[in-house]
Amino acid sequence: MPETFYITTPIYYVNDKPHIGHAYTTLLADILARHHRATGRKVLFLTGTDEHGQKVAKAAAKREIAPQKHCDKMVKRFQDLWKRLEITNDDFIRTTEKRHVQVVRRILQDLYDKDLIYKADYEGRYCVPCERFFTDKDLGDEGECPECGRKTDEIVESNYFFRMGNYQDWLVDYIKSHPEFIQPPFRANETLGFLRQPLDDLCISRPKSRLAWGIELPFDSDYVCYVWFDALVNYITAPGFASDPERFDEFWPADIHLIGKDILTTHTVYWPTMLKAMGVELPKTIFAHGWWLSGSGKMSKSTGNVVNPMDMIDKHGVDAFRYFLAAEMSLGQDAVFSEDTFVSRYNSDLANDLGNLVSRAVKLIARNNDGIIPHPGAETALEEELKDAALSAAKTMDDSIENMKLDRGIAAVMAAAKAGNRYMEKTAPWKLAKSDPENRLDTVLLSVAELLRIVSGLLEPVMPSKTREIRERLGIQAGPASTAPLDKWEASVAGASVLDAGPVFPRIDTAKSAAGGKAEKQATIKNKKEPAMEDNEKTNTVDLITVDDFFKAKLKTAKILEAEKVEGADRLLRLQIDIGEEKRQIVAGIAQFYSPENLVGKSIVVVSNLKPAKIRGVESNGMLLAARIPAGGLGLVTLDGDIPPGCSVG
Ligand code: ME8
Ligand code: MG
Repeated sequence: MPETFYITTPIYYVNDKPHIGHAYTTLLADILARHHRATGRKVLFLTGTDEHGQKVAKAAAKREIAPQKHCDKMVKRFQDLWKRLEITNDDFIRTTEKRHVQVVRRILQDLYDKDLIYKADYEGRYCVPCERFFTDKDLGDEGECPECGRKTDEIVESNYFFRMGNYQDWLVDYIKSHPEFIQPPFRANETLGFLRQPLDDLCISRPKSRLAWGIELPFDSDYVCYVWFDALVNYITAPGFASDPERFDEFWPADIHLIGKDILTTHTVYWPTMLKAMGVELPKTIFAHGWWLSGSGKMSKSTGNVVNPMDMIDKHGVDAFRYFLAAEMSLGQDAVFSEDTFVSRYNSDLANDLGNLVSRAVKLIARNNDGIIPHPGAETALEEELKDAALSAAKTMDDSIENMKLDRGIAAVMAAAKAGNRYMEKTAPWKLAKSDPENRLDTVLLSVAELLRIVSGLLEPVMPSKTREIRERLGIQAGPASTAPLDKWEASVAGASVLDAGPVFPRIDTAKSAAGGKAEKQATIKNKKEPAMEDNEKTNTVDLITVDDFFKAKLKTAKILEAEKVEGADRLLRLQIDIGEEKRQIVAGIAQFYSPENLVGKSIVVVSNLKPAKIRGVESNGMLLAARIPAGGLGLVTLDGDIPPGCSVG
């Protein structure tokens, strides 16, 4: 029996169409699922939709259609997007499906029979958008919701409660003794922090008079089930809890519930206590990733600052989009989505580093060896180095998937592609003669092709179509090389026939857009033909500068001696700085982020050989370095250690 791997995403509310945040979690799960399938595990990858509750009922009411009809329409948006994103989920669960409703009712009845659910009067503050009750101590000063900051409503009613409070001590112990349970570890601390206050019992019903859209309680037809108590159960419905014990045994406990950090408490407090009460094992790991932010904060349906993934895919292609999301977010942290960053990452990683390497390799093999990847001659230290880069990328990718640091794995693979380009420059195969007795040219061509076999294989879960294209260019989409291991350097690619068919990752041309000022809207994929090999050398260096270029800027350490506001300019500060051999005045646009008194004494980095300029009439002799966060905010580049002023930086 192969080892199994069960991975889930949250089931998304169908109150609105999916955005990049939803695409991200599902894509991440897809990459992990593809990776584990490739290693021979039997995978169950589950996603789906959360269709009950007030949010969905409201969205349906707004459109003046029945909730079920609304769900049936909206679910398509999610399913279409997953198809378009080439998501390989094995199951798709909807909470309105009979298979799910049955399981939820059965669990409710069971817990009620065991007196783990009881009826009581409830008085509390309720947040409609979050669909959660809060006690006064949780609320903000104005009685607002601690989660979303919106106003809460006072509610008094009879309801049913799950004895969640019973499990507080057990849960704290469990979390402490199972470090893999909540990941990354700082999220476990967040949950433990939450559990320092007394854990209340959980209200799991809604009177139909207030909300009729939900699963009816099996023991009281005046009530429906609270949406979270219903939704979380999806994770056990799908593998066959209470319907297919054998299959359930095979896949449960889940290996990973992937979630965003917004739903940490429901997954790490509600869900484990529910399972404990049912006598069911807990999932192995709950992993919470950070948020995609747009300029104005968290991308969310309710604030409306969303980027539509379909638009991005239409514009830039599915694999480029998959690559960007996976490579850009460092797992666990927040990340900012901007199309500018997307375009520059695409151009530098995919068009320049990887795409160029493929084109060069294919063209050289086409020209010098009739399109056949040659058998290698003797190897030198340069090949050893290249081999190390490839094999260490394979190892890092494996480890990073195991440790949920996908972005690092991707970075390691891209570093191997860069090493490939450096190898080309060092070996200069275009200068090597075909008649060389050592078969140097053969060795070089084979080595680059072998590197690309490994690199494309490692990136396959991230970019399934583009990596297939790369393998087609190399002629290794079938045959022994197509299944050769990625952690071994071998000559399985020898003998394959390459296909010289233009760039796999055409550059996105931003020149036009820069002129129009709107880089975002106008960036288009330019399908230009790759230039001939000689020119190609230049193409490869378009975005790159030489060390000499870099050192034209004389960067120096400096100490801030005085700082004051520039009168009549809200953003500007006038700084007197010590740059070693002299004192200088510079003007910096950082007044919104730093107050003058906090700056004095700080060590910073400045460009010291900038032409003097007058800014709002004040003379400035240099420029300081600072990082600008696209969402707003700024941080000065400071120094590690006690570095005196006047040192050169670079
Ligand atoms: O919470 N950045 O559904 P939901 C990153 N139905 N990920 C984001 C994101 C963002 N800006 N916005 C959303 C629900 N997500 C419940 C879940 S599970 C039993 C029930 C992703 O439609 C992220 O995975 O609000 C987040 O946890 C999820 O979508 C919330 O989706
Ligand atoms: Mg949400």
